[in-house]
Amino acid sequence: MTKLKIVEIPDPRLKKISEPVKEINQDIINLLDDMLETMYSAPGIGLAAVQIGVLLRMIVVDIAAKDETPNPIFLINPEIIEASENLQECEEGCLSVPKQFATITRPAEVTVKYLDKKGNVSQIKADGLLAVVLQHEIDHLNGKVFIDYLSPLKRKILLRKLQKERRLNELEEK
Ligand code: NI
Repeated sequence: MTKLKIVEIPDPRLKKISEPVKEINQDIINLLDDMLETMYSAPGIGLAAVQIGVLLRMIVVDIAAKDETPNPIFLINPEIIEASENLQECEEGCLSVPKQFATITRPAEVTVKYLDKKGNVSQIKADGLLAVVLQHEIDHLNGKVFIDYLSPLKRKILLRKLQKERRLNELEEK
């Protein structure tokens, strides 16, 4: 497994629509393992392939807490087949928008159909944090980042904060 560099905004790849995976071969399995390692070391609880610069419809998720046994889920070609009318609010962040957070409203429960690593068709019915992460990551496959849900003003403030922190980091590194 290799830890890869995470693509950050405003990289144009984050706005692209990812292609379905046609065949689950060893390259795909290796990529999924690299994605998991990259996500764990970030650390994060979800990662889409586009975030390591690969425009394929794959995500990895693990919402287990630090003191719990890791519980990674690999989803290939995930698709939301059902979403509740009930909504929930959650504070979201994204490894591609480092250290910035905002409250986003999404359906509280979703059912996601996907292929697992062995190519079996699987389904997850999720609520709570898992529902949030699945929707957030599937958005990435459609060229969408959580800040796209914000009002133009809120987005501008968040992007300004990000810019400021990046400048401070640069200064610290010098
Ligand atoms: Ni993200």
